[in-house]
Amino acid sequence: MLGRVNHIAIAVPDLAVASAGYRETLGATVSVPQSLPEHGVTVVFVELPNTKVELLEPLGEGSPIAAFLAKNPDGGMHHICYEVDDIFAAREKLVAAGARVLGNGEPKTGAHGKPVLFLHPKDFQGTLIELEQL
Ligand code: CO
Repeated sequence: MLGRVNHIAIAVPDLAVASAGYRETLGATVSVPQSLPEHGVTVVFVELPNTKVELLEPLGEGSPIAAFLAKNPDGGMHHICYEVDDIFAAREKLVAAGARVLGNGEPKTGAHGKPVLFLHPKDFQGTLIELEQL
C-alpha cells in the first residue's frame, strides 16, 4: 500500500524563524509560505534530494496543531506522509482492518493539491500518518 515518504512534517511555533533556520543555517531551499485555512495551518516545504520537510505553523482558531504546540512549545515532529496510489482503496483496507481515519473520513485537498487522509496516531505507534494520493 505504501509508496515513498512524501514528506516529514514538523510543527513550529514561528514559521519565519524556522524557515530562516533551514534556509540560512542548514542551507536548504525553502518554499514561500502557503496558508491552508481548511487544515488550520500555514506551511512551507524544505526541498531535499530524496524527500521534503513540511514546516507547519498554526493558522486561525482551533488549529489542529495548537494542542501539539502547547505540549511541545519548541515544536517537534508532527506527522509523516506516505504516498499511496489509490487513497480510496487504501482507506477501505485500513478501515476494514480497524484503523481509524481522522475527521469525517473523506479525503481533503492537501498542500500539493492532492487528496490526503490522516490516520489516528494510536493505531500506528503514536505517530500521526498522512496518506497522499499522487
Ligand atoms: Co503533511
